[in-house]
Amino acid sequence: VTSASPMELRLAFIGLGNVARAFARMIDDRRDQLSDGYGLKLRTTAIATGSHGCVLSDGDIDLRAAAACVERGEPLTGLPGVAAISDTSGLIDRCEADVVFETTPLNPTDGEPAATYILNALGRGMNVVTANKGPVAFAYRRLKALAERKRVSFRFEGTVMDGAPVFNLVEYCLPVARVIRFSGVLNSTTNLILAGMESGRTFDECLDEARRLGIAETNADYDIDGWDAAAKAIVLANVLMGADLRPNDVDRAGIRDLDSRETQAAAAAGRPLRLIARAEGSGDGAKIVVGPERVAAASPLGSVRGTSNVLIIETDLMGELVIFETNPGIEQTAYALLSDLIRVHEEAKSRR
Ligand SMILES: NC(=O)c1ccc[n+]([C@@H]2O[C@H](COP(=O)([O-])OP(=O)(O)OC[C@H]3O[C@@H](n4cnc5c(N)ncnc54)[C@H](OP(=O)(O)O)[C@@H]3O)[C@@H](O)[C@H]2O)c1
Repeated sequence: VTSASPMELRLAFIGLGNVARAFARMIDDRRDQLSDGYGLKLRTTAIATGSHGCVLSDGDIDLRAAAACVERGEPLTGLPGVAAISDTSGLIDRCEADVVFETTPLNPTDGEPAATYILNALGRGMNVVTANKGPVAFAYRRLKALAERKRVSFRFEGTVMDGAPVFNLVEYCLPVARVIRFSGVLNSTTNLILAGMESGRTFDECLDEARRLGIAETNADYDIDGWDAAAKAIVLANVLMGADLRPNDVDRAGIRDLDSRETQAAAAAGRPLRLIARAEGSGDGAKIVVGPERVAAASPLGSVRGTSNVLIIETDLMGELVIFETNPGIEQTAYALLSDLIRVHEEAKSRR
């Protein structure tokens, strides 16, 4: 799509952490391509954070300057041309953005406050893109119904396997087919730890590496204890299989009690330990299990190393499909936000 006069979209950011800052760099780098190739001109008018302040602007907030501010630990209120707002909810009430990017930390207990932020934004007629699985795991049906009623988009490709097309693949490329079961290695932090321990490193050394890479959850216990994988499995089951489950419905175990000796012995026997998420459809629901399993080294589940992820989807009409994501980092999650932004733009055009 080439457009002589690009359409301007006003962007609001709820969270400016690792993911949002990588996305900010990406859209700045690709400014010309987005304008010339997709007819998109982007303007940032609102940013909310947890501890670096919330700001609004009538102009265009310089995203790189805002990211640098956060990285220096300084408040955003010092940026030129911005007005300070007391909190995130107040910012959503007032921001009147076209697209809200929600990237606050995972809360595996109830998906809050992100679910409420997204409900408010959709209710005010704003499109929402999130990389946070919490709200999708706890409130998918409500959020989707509200987005439909308000004729806006709600996209969340980054919630599972970063920017690898999982939801888009099923939605756009597998019409009529039903997903009947899936299994996968969906959490990069635990996979990095397990593979690292196989090669003799300690649990803590591997966890530090995941933190350095920016891929660990804000609270890494949610990775280690299987909550992140459970939330992803719930998102997959609710979206792809029509289930209506919550993370507490998952039969869940993490990797906290595994040690280097056990992981090395399993790998030496050709059956390495991996944190596996499995779902089996039943009626309108699904049964979901997350926990460490010994899997054949040469199988798709056993062959993923480091931060790599894999998802095996079994359908009734298209058989089994395997999606590998090799060594994703923060850029791949940022790409999820970018591909969702393009989808929001396409959907908005098709509604006109
Ligand atoms: N990192 C990854 O590789 C990855 C991959 C896929 C999905 N995700 C998901 O993406 C989301 C963001 O991850 P991240 O790594 O960017 O996390 P992060 O670096 O910890 O950033 C979280 C951001 O949210 C802000 N925040 C916290 N509470 C807030 C509130 N109530 N209102 C507004 N902002 C608030 C924080 O602000 P302060 O810093 O000022 O507190 C920070 O800017 C998470 O839900 C995560 O599960 C991450």
